Amino acid sequence: DAVLPSVVPQPVAARLTRAAIFLVVTLEPGNAAETAVRKLCADLSGLLRAVGFRDLEGGLSCVLGVGSDAWDRLFGAPRPKDLHPFREIRGKHHAVATPGDLLFHIRATRMDLCFELATHIMSRLAGFVATEDEVHGFSYFDDRDLIGFVDGTENPVDGAAVAATIIGEEDADFAGGSYVIVQKYLHDLPGWNRVPVAEQERIIGREKLSDIELDDAAKPSYAHNVLTSIEENGEPLEILRDNMPFGDVGKGEFGTYFIGYARSPHRIERMLENMFIGLPPGNYDRLLDFSRAVTGSLFFIPSASFLDAVTP
Ligand code: HEM
Repeated sequence: DAVLPSVVPQPVAARLTRAAIFLVVTLEPGNAAETAVRKLCADLSGLLRAVGFRDLEGGLSCVLGVGSDAWDRLFGAPRPKDLHPFREIRGKHHAVATPGDLLFHIRATRMDLCFELATHIMSRLAGFVATEDEVHGFSYFDDRDLIGFVDGTENPVDGAAVAATIIGEEDADFAGGSYVIVQKYLHDLPGWNRVPVAEQERIIGREKLSDIELDDAAKPSYAHNVLTSIEENGEPLEILRDNMPFGDVGKGEFGTYFIGYARSPHRIERMLENMFIGLPPGNYDRLLDFSRAVTGSLFFIPSASFLDAVTP
């Protein structure tokens, strides 16, 4: 079920980068806001070329996501088959749902490129959107999150990344599209650092220093990589993550911005249920005893071809 040849996806599977901006905005009421966003959709590839060309080695990319309500306002029918608002989960811990009409996931090797593109995007939208959340993420040593573990190792790459993320025949109108769930997590770092490293390793399911996966026999059933490894008919259901650390030392804020792309949101939702409710219920992800989700939103990622063809 390959992507139709004429459809170009957005750069969902862009390589991991040193810097990223995660920008979530909501639309103000009224037609003027809708027109401004539709105009931006059509202009986005040009803006990206203009800023990105100033340093081609910077690898600037931008993925634009559209929330469920915003889709109806901006584009109406047809709708992507699996697009719905993020559903909160109340289990041992709470996965909150927070507002979001548009997501901009901007990545580059340098923050200045991300910042410049975000500035141009927001100047086009000034007066038409409210910023719900803006996170500037940085890569931390050898791609570690702030809890000290290497994050992203088991991501699918190349063809497997495309197969995990890009919609094919299952929703032919939206082939080349994708879905994304974002959640901003804040860590209780002093609490986490009091947990002995051997127990931290059992919680994640990998060794902290070497990043080697623990033997199955050594992994508890609540290990993060046990609860997030899911299958359907014996086949693994994969997603593509590009989590980034962020923080504010003055405020004592230490976070991980979770971003997960998939060709269907169900697989990400299943992982979240396993983490927050537990598998079986009660056998939840102990990482959540130290990490609190403070946002949660779901977006559809139309193909780049779709965006280029949008008329204001
Ligand atoms: C694996 C950290 C949230 C899905 C990992 C690993 C780390 C990690 C360190 C092991 C290395 C790797 O393979 O990347 C975190 C942190 C989170 C977080 C700090 C938030 C505080 C989530 C969420 C999901 C998720 C919300 C899905 C809804 C996965 C998956 C794997 C993984 C699928 C790979 C499992 C495997 O195949 O071995 N995560 N994660 N993570 N995480 Fe997370």
